[in-house]
Amino acid sequence: MKPTVVILAAGLGTRMKSGTAKALHQLAGRPLVQHVLNAAMAVGPGKIVLVLGHQADKVREAVREYKPEVVLQYEQLGTGHAVRQARESIAEAAGPVMVLCADTPLLTGGTLRKVVELHQKSRAAVTLITARVENPFGYGRVVRGKSGIVRVVEEKDATAAQKKITEVNAGIYCFEKKFLLASLDGLGKNNAQGEYYLPDAVARAAKKKLRVSAFVSENVDEVMGVNTRHDLSRAEAVLRERVARKWMLDGVTMLDPVSTFIDDEVILGRDTVLYGNVRLEGRTRIGEACTVFPGSRIADSVIGNGVTVKDCSVIEESDIAPGASVGPFAHLRPGSVIGAGAKIGNFVEVKKSTIGEGSKANHLSYIGDATVGRNVNIGAGVITCNYDGFEKYPTVIEDGVFVGSDAQLVAPVTIGKGALIAAGATITRNVPPDALAISRAPQDIREGFVSRRKRLKQKKDK
Ligand code: UD1
Ligand code: CA
Repeated sequence: MKPTVVILAAGLGTRMKSGTAKALHQLAGRPLVQHVLNAAMAVGPGKIVLVLGHQADKVREAVREYKPEVVLQYEQLGTGHAVRQARESIAEAAGPVMVLCADTPLLTGGTLRKVVELHQKSRAAVTLITARVENPFGYGRVVRGKSGIVRVVEEKDATAAQKKITEVNAGIYCFEKKFLLASLDGLGKNNAQGEYYLPDAVARAAKKKLRVSAFVSENVDEVMGVNTRHDLSRAEAVLRERVARKWMLDGVTMLDPVSTFIDDEVILGRDTVLYGNVRLEGRTRIGEACTVFPGSRIADSVIGNGVTVKDCSVIEESDIAPGASVGPFAHLRPGSVIGAGAKIGNFVEVKKSTIGEGSKANHLSYIGDATVGRNVNIGAGVITCNYDGFEKYPTVIEDGVFVGSDAQLVAPVTIGKGALIAAGATITRNVPPDALAISRAPQDIREGFVSRRKRLKQKKDK
């Protein structure tokens, strides 16, 4: 029977000291709550119920793709109270009920599957994940008696002796449905925080001599709860190592995995080489045998095979065809499409433009709202003047055009196939195919001018 999964995400996360609800804080390019949802998907849930409170609309928006059922907890009166808000959905459940917290993002789907298995095999009333950690501070401690787990005691309620217990509650449970419903009714708030504690259900089971199972996680990282920004950075480091390892085992070379940030959703091809200090963000896909040199950031972009991204380039929402080369110090802004074998070089900015196969813009250019054909050469310092202070206009540069250095193409303008634009030209009208367009003041030579001027100056000074 498919488990019903309840995810608690109503809290603000006071310890984050943030205006943003904790569930929305980013980890490897995704909000915390999405990591938990991804793990939850692995148990093949019949239904996912999200308990929301703080910034419910924003959290709901962030998880739209998962289509969870949402219930609201208007006042955050504790984890037990939060689960109580999902009472109706729980009552409808056919199988076991898993409860997860949005702030344990390192949990894997594999572990959750094992927990469900253990729960069903042991016919427990409740199965919880625990771990033995070096520093248990802040976690609920698992109190064991002669016949197993007796209760979970929160940090703030623990006696000095209990605080020494190093086995902690991960805040992740699998419940037998009827037992959970009865427990929710029985929860009190007679504790240090005056909250309804979900872990009190464990004590209830023990008291009633019902079975409490524990899945003791070997992987301490997995159960890490994110309560502070410091926890967040530690979780980021763990996840970074996990993602890097996966790609290295899949054939990607990473010269310095510790300084390479690869978001969760990124896809990489084999034989691609990533230097240190590279960031690959969002839904970026990079093909095979590409090289990304240090200092580059690539976000939400698709990069074909054999592409080179030289040092310190920024690529956002762009497409790069196989064999192209970008950088160093290039900026591809959203909507840039770079053709096969094309070259975008030093200090070139491209925005919402298509650059045809084999075309080159190697130095110091701005190309915006342009359609550039194949085998076009764009000289150093060329600028498409696409903005008149009110609106943006397009530039079309057809196949085989040669644009001389320092030319300005004032849009809207079309340069016909094979045309030649002289260096320094300011082009304000369309240029027909095959033509030369030149616009510059005639050159004037004055022989001997420099020495004459010097003599004049010396005379004056006397
Ligand atoms: C909880 C457990 C603790 C465990 C730890 C593991 C309780 C009482 N304590 O403590 O035993 O070791 O997790 O990380 O359960 N939430 C709501 N509504 C509320 C309160 C909390 O939705 O009224 C949500 C939070 O948004 C969060 C999760 O529940 O995602 C856990 O809440 P948090 O306050 O972080 O609990 P801990 O103090 O960490
Ligand atoms: Ca927590």
